Amino acid sequence: MEGYSNKVMEHFRNPKNVGEIENPDGIGHVGNPVCGDIMELYIKVKDGRIVDAKFKTFGCGAAIATSSMVTELVKGKTIEEALKISNQAVVEALGGLPPIKMHCSVLAEQALKKAIDDYLKKTTGKGLDIKEDKNNDGECILKKNV
Ligand code: FES
Repeated sequence: MEGYSNKVMEHFRNPKNVGEIENPDGIGHVGNPVCGDIMELYIKVKDGRIVDAKFKTFGCGAAIATSSMVTELVKGKTIEEALKISNQAVVEALGGLPPIKMHCSVLAEQALKKAIDDYLKKTTGKGLDIKEDKNNDGECILKKNV
């Protein structure tokens, strides 16, 4: 398909880490109100390190490819390291995305952040400082409160 790198096509056709984790330590559920795509990301954490990550995405090819890549990137990372994974890093690892599809990668970053937020809330009682996007502009439904 035109405009998509080989890496994107590879992760779209054969996505890695599809499915659910039984008894996950964190779940991140996000959706894009404009396109209606939904992403759910599960993490398993051991000794402060993400040892497993899986996802279920009901969405476009770019959303599937970015979900697949973010779960690959996050495995083996500490929580602090995982929090630094931006949508840009996911896009770079995929060899780029067409500009019109960049919002799909934002969904992947936000799903990861929500899963970490869930994990932190369960383990420390305090999650990340993230807030809902009141503009509902479809760019992302969650924004880090910085
Ligand atoms: S078009 Fe909805 S996430 Fe890609």
